[in-house]
Amino acid sequence: MPKLVVIEVSGERWEIEAQAGLSVMEALAEVGIATFGECGGSLACGTCHVVIEPDWFERLPPPSEAEEDMLDAVFNLTATSRLCCQITVTEACDGLTVRFPDADAAPCTAAATALAG
Ligand code: FES
Repeated sequence: MPKLVVIEVSGERWEIEAQAGLSVMEALAEVGIATFGECGGSLACGTCHVVIEPDWFERLPPPSEAEEDMLDAVFNLTATSRLCCQITVTEACDGLTVRFPDADAAPCTAAATALAG
């Protein structure tokens, strides 16, 4: 099962197992990180914004035009920003590293709570 690395705003890192076929957002929700993704993955909210570590960004399939349009509306957009509801976990994603942007600090706190417990 591929492992994803999640980095909080504080810099703390968590490693989670992710089932192939789920979106990254769904994989995070499976381990209790479910305080974002308000539209359920229908590209209508942008609250699932994550920053992909640069060495991984180019290895992912590119965002669709609809994802790029929604990304234009998120806070703290970076050159490697993605919406994690649009990234499908595959075996090739083992080691994929995602970081929460500063504006989304609340989900990161939820991650720490869920994973520490
Ligand atoms: S969950 Fe709403 S755009 Fe990803």
